[in-house]
Amino acid sequence: MPRDTVVLVPAAGRGERLGPGAPKALRALRGDPLLLHAVRRIAAAESVAAIVVAAPPGAERAVRDLLASVVGAAELVVVTGGASREESVARALAAAPPDPQVVLVHDAARCLCPPELADEVAAAVRGGHDAVVPVLPVTDTVKQVDGGGAVVATPDRATLRAVQTPQGFRREVLVRAYAAVAAGETWTDDASLVARYGAAVHTIPGREEAMKVTRPFDLLVAEAVLDRA
Ligand code: CTP
Ligand code: MG
Repeated sequence: MPRDTVVLVPAAGRGERLGPGAPKALRALRGDPLLLHAVRRIAAAESVAAIVVAAPPGAERAVRDLLASVVGAAELVVVTGGASREESVARALAAAPPDPQVVLVHDAARCLCPPELADEVAAAVRGGHDAVVPVLPVTDTVKQVDGGGAVVATPDRATLRAVQTPQGFRREVLVRAYAAVAAGETWTDDASLVARYGAAVHTIPGREEAMKVTRPFDLLVAEAVLDRA
């Protein structure tokens, strides 16, 4: 498997839904920061040549020291994160080393993602897809509601998928999409951004372990996943 992939890791969020404390990426899960868990796994993927972390402002040095021992042969770049996830990703993209032509974007908050998933996403991009996202079937019935909370539609669950990271892109596709973004725009994932600029987004099977730690309950689940391994 060629080492042709750079992984951008937005890690500059505050973790407000997790409750008061350090920035989420630096909160501990069984003693190690979420970011350390995430990067250790990403660095173990065979495709990965470089990792660019968007760190919480002021924590750049601490993040570099934290990760130096787990990146192995991968090149590590640390940039200062931005005020929004989009800005953090844009900054990391701008600082990515020039050679890798496959770019993955991976949330630090998906700290237990297996290395194999990163390799599978990269392989699908290498295989010719402009944009690739790992997905899982949705198990809850999902309702669309109006501003007052009344149900207006029930999309057919069989056609819905929950989207994870790492999401993968041909470098040129992601660079073009980010270059076209207007200041202050927001979107919920990178694939929806590139889709807006005309790229087709391919799905591959995700992993339950690639769950995102968002609320305190998710930390309990992550602890259980870690203890099982
Ligand atoms: N992120 C980032 N820069 C920001 C905001 C978010 O790099 N300004 C990152 C987070 O660190 C996280 C990923 O984007 O790894 C997904 O965001 P989310 O789960 O929403 O994390 P937070 O923004 O930290 O959490 P919250 O929204 O609860 O504050
Ligand atoms: Mg957030």
